[in-house]
Parts: sequence; C-alpha cells; structure tokens
Amino acid sequence: MRLIFLGPPGAGKGTQAQILQRRFGAKQVSTGDILRDNRSRGTELGKLAESYMNSGALVPDEVIIKMIEAELDTLPDGFIMDGFPRTVAQAEAFDCLLESKDLTLDAVVLFEADRATLIARLTGRWTNPRNGRPYNAATNPPRVPGIDDEDGGPLVQRDDDKLETVTKRLDVYERQTSPLVEYYRHSGKLVQVDALAPVDDVTKEIVAKIGAPVEQNAAG
Ligand code: AP5
Repeated sequence: MRLIFLGPPGAGKGTQAQILQRRFGAKQVSTGDILRDNRSRGTELGKLAESYMNSGALVPDEVIIKMIEAELDTLPDGFIMDGFPRTVAQAEAFDCLLESKDLTLDAVVLFEADRATLIARLTGRWTNPRNGRPYNAATNPPRVPGIDDEDGGPLVQRDDDKLETVTKRLDVYERQTSPLVEYYRHSGKLVQVDALAPVDDVTKEIVAKIGAPVEQNAAG
C-alpha cells in the first residue's frame, strides 16, 4: 500500500499512521521525525533544518526531496507518507521519483479539521520520544502526567508546539501546503476524512475509504 497523509499540523496524521502502518503492511515515513532525529544527533542535515523547524517554516524543498529519495529505496512493503509532500514542488518531484521506480500511489488521505481544534491539540500534545506514541493532555492524557502508560519512561513536548509557533505552522500550511489538495484531487486519488472525530472513528473512516488489505506482519 502506498499512501500520502495530507492535512494541517495537529490533524492526526502521525496518530493514524502509527495505528495503520501494520494494518496496511506499509511503513510510516514522517519527514518531521526524520528531521528531529537528525537534529538530536547533531548531523549536518539536523543543523540545517533546526532554524526552519523552530520558527515553524518549511525546510527547503531540495533538502527534503533528497531525504525522501534515499528513504524510498528502503520501503519494499509500501509507505504512509506523513508530512510529505508539503509543497507543489515536493509533490511534482515525488511523482517523478515514483514514476522512475514504476510505483503508483494508492490514495492521498486528506485530514480535515478546524483551526481552533488544531491549536488545542498541538499545545496539549505529549509524545513518547522512544517510539512516537502520542498523548494529549485534554483528549488522551497519560495515567500519570508526563509518563508513558506502557514503558513508564518520560514523555516530551515538541519545541514547535508553543502557541506562537503553532500559529505560524498553520499559516504556512494554508499558504504552501493546502494547494496540494487540488493537485491530488486532479489525480483522482484524494479521499477526505473527518479528523475531528474520535481517533478510532477516524481509523475506521480511513480503512473504509482506502479498502484495507488483510493485516500483515510487517514490522512497525
Ligand atoms: P511534522 O513533524 O511533520 O509536523 P506537522 O505536519 O506540523 O504535523 P504534526 O506532527 O504536528 O501533526 P499530526 O497531524 O501528525 O498530528 P498528531 O497525530 O501528532 O513537521 C514539523 C516541522 O518539520 C515542520 O514545521 C517543518 O519545519 C519540518 N518539515 C517536516 N516535513 C517537511 C517537509 N515535507 N517539507 C519541509 N519541511 C518539513 O496529533 C496531534 C495531537 O492531537 C496529539 O496530541 C494527538 O494525541 C491528538 N489527536 C490526534 N488525533 C486525534 C483525534 N482524532 N481526536 C482527538 N485528539 C487527537
């Protein structure tokens, strides 16, 4: 299965990609997670990306496209692109990449939510940095604040989830990423889901609209 999850920050793309990657036998590819991992390891890519990420701006297209090109060769069982593409230039480059490898997309899932909900979700988000498991102080709190329910380790908040940066990220989405809705509508691959629904209901709607294959044993 080859999917793109498209939608504004906080719409639940990462949450659903985590849940569905096993079911679709495809790997979640979060460009944000790859960049954050590089930043924490202090790589050249991480250093380059840091100031863009901290300010809520997008990392330059050519950097992201190179990153995805390298990633694509490691995904024989398919992918769920979470946070990529984010500009028309990235989408066009991705189309070329897929074509050069004789691969086609199955669907692009558009997560729809209003701005007030997105702000509340992002400013309340907590994540397990060891495996990406998401929590939310308002809608899905851990049993003990700041501690993962399952592995007992600390949860973290992202630097770019401060209100000021969240507002900027939402503006950047409207300006630079939302044109992709029309781009993918033209391809006939776009399906829309109500991202305001509870997590389980969003999962069900995606599965119903994509047509889930038999569950596979693909590792995380
Ligand atoms: P990235 O890490 O991709 O962040 P994002 O797109 O802003 O998306 P988020 O991870 O914030 O939101 P999400 O939709 O995954 O929501 P989540 O499931 O976590 O990018 C970060 C930065 O990296 C960018 O700003 C940019 O600088 C750079 N970057 C990354 N990719 C790039 C690219 N392609 N090009 C250029 N730059 C790039 O959920 C959010 C919260 O809501 C959680 O607390 C969750 O528990 C809760 N929640 C989820 N679903 C529900 C629900 N149904 N009901 C109630 N609560 C819910």
